Amino acid sequence: MAASPPSPTPGSASPVRPARHGAFHTLTVAAVDRLTEDSVALTLAVPPELRSEYRHAPGQHLTLRRSPLDGSGKSEVRRTYSICSPAPAADGPGPSALRVGVRLVEGGEFSSFAHKEIAAGDALDVMVPAGRFVLDPAAAPAAAHYAAIVGGSGITPVLSIAATLLASRPDARFCLVRSDRSAASTMFLDEVADLKDRYPDRFQLVTVLSREEQEAGLPSGRLGEERLAALLPALLPVAEVTGWFLCGPYGLVTGAEQALAGLGVERTRVHEEIFHVEDTAPPAPVASAAATHGRVTARLDGRSGTWPVREGESLLDAVLRARADAPYACKGGVCGTCRAFLVTGEVRMDRNFALEETETEAGFVLACQSHPVTEEVEIDFDR
Ligand code: FES
Repeated sequence: MAASPPSPTPGSASPVRPARHGAFHTLTVAAVDRLTEDSVALTLAVPPELRSEYRHAPGQHLTLRRSPLDGSGKSEVRRTYSICSPAPAADGPGPSALRVGVRLVEGGEFSSFAHKEIAAGDALDVMVPAGRFVLDPAAAPAAAHYAAIVGGSGITPVLSIAATLLASRPDARFCLVRSDRSAASTMFLDEVADLKDRYPDRFQLVTVLSREEQEAGLPSGRLGEERLAALLPALLPVAEVTGWFLCGPYGLVTGAEQALAGLGVERTRVHEEIFHVEDTAPPAPVASAAATHGRVTARLDGRSGTWPVREGESLLDAVLRARADAPYACKGGVCGTCRAFLVTGEVRMDRNFALEETETEAGFVLACQSHPVTEEVEIDFDR
């Protein structure tokens, strides 16, 4: 399964790599803005000496951590949240502030902490930006036409992607199809309306509300495969779209993926990020036979070590026992923070909702979902 890292997918770009993979710094919360009844935006101030570390590509995310050392007696919790603010210029000093959207999840430990406890002036542990659901405006072809289909909080990274593209490439167009329960529950209404005001000829917006009739526009109802297959050709020249960005719950993303496949869109033009995996989602295909125990050698920030893997343990957990700085957030195969390159050996992945096919084919794995199949396995977090 070992191979070379993939080259960037056409229409997207290699993300900006942080100086130290998975590093946390403590940032100050500059503002907490309520977006809807169940969502807030956190603005984090970035001090001058850390600006280059937090330089990000549009579409990347931050991992926020509630530290167990805060005296509350509560355990550590990590969650990833996409950056909604536009990306800074690639040759500039990096951002002075970062903004993320946090939607309250039922039973969600970090999201309720963010909603009830975090206030302006608080200190928060924030990992450097990561993620490959990105678009580099500089790499976009002339007169590029991108499109996104998003559900709920899936608007967050796409807001950064669209705003950065439209501001930096006057020849580019962007079509956003967004789905939400109701107008009152729609995140970043003002920011999206602002894009429409600023770029009336280049930004196309279609909103579908599943539980509420709109005064104008499309009838209410779920945005599934069938509906998208009928809607998209009426909205834009599907075959000419440079790249598609699908983001939101598992059901919406897979429905949109199937609709695009049915319309003849090449898979290499489609980029996906799943925000929430329903319990009914099928596991990713098992790559090989039953896992054995074994040993893992891992390279992280230029240092390597070898450790035993206990029965049933993931490669990530085996590495974490010795290297607490190993990168992770969800431990559920969704966020992609634990991505590593498989240098030698073979692994079985339990599930994968984060890596694209080109990445797994090229030899990348999710360490939190991987178990050794061969006695010796070597992974590299630095690639
Ligand atoms: S930590 Fe999120 S996919 Fe592994």
